[in-house]
Amino acid sequence: MTQQLWDQLIEFSERCRACDLNKSRTHVVFGNGDPRSRIWLVGEAPGSNEDEQGLPFVGQAGNLLDKLLERNGFKRTSVFVTNVVKCRPPNNAEPTDDQKMACLPLLAAQLAVWKPKYILALGRHAASVLLARPFKSLKEIRGQVFEYGDTRVVVTYHPAAVLRNPRLEDIVEHDIQMISRLMAGEK
Ligand code: URA
Repeated sequence: MTQQLWDQLIEFSERCRACDLNKSRTHVVFGNGDPRSRIWLVGEAPGSNEDEQGLPFVGQAGNLLDKLLERNGFKRTSVFVTNVVKCRPPNNAEPTDDQKMACLPLLAAQLAVWKPKYILALGRHAASVLLARPFKSLKEIRGQVFEYGDTRVVVTYHPAAVLRNPRLEDIVEHDIQMISRLMAGEK
């Protein structure tokens, strides 16, 4: 049943016209990896490589993400990776509030199907839709545990921010390790 719902959601997403991004997209980037994983990673929106391939985090930021995950005991293929916005905003623009709101029902439905125990929210756009609290800067909310329903959410910097400022790498690793410890402590 769960798999059937998931397959229906994939089909639904491919026909989605909830915002203007449907006009310029090549692919809807639904997510990849193992949706049954206890941990999901949620990023911002696909870039040009992701739009071309229909897969999340396959460019430079994705390579860094894979490295950070592996270094901290997670295989990219054994977690599920998706984005807040599933279609590429043209010209590398950041997703708008309207685009995030138009796409939120899809993310909420994805989460409702598999109910992951943990989410690592990558960057402020993911945090802005998953956290039920306003915040001024990522610094204020990273490395803490929040809740989205029964799912525990840890926020960290987006890998693209780490590419721009390599000093953030240690902080992201710290946050990934925090989720690892939470998972290890779980019954
Ligand atoms: N940045 C994101 O937030 N998501 C991707 O899939 C790629 C880059």
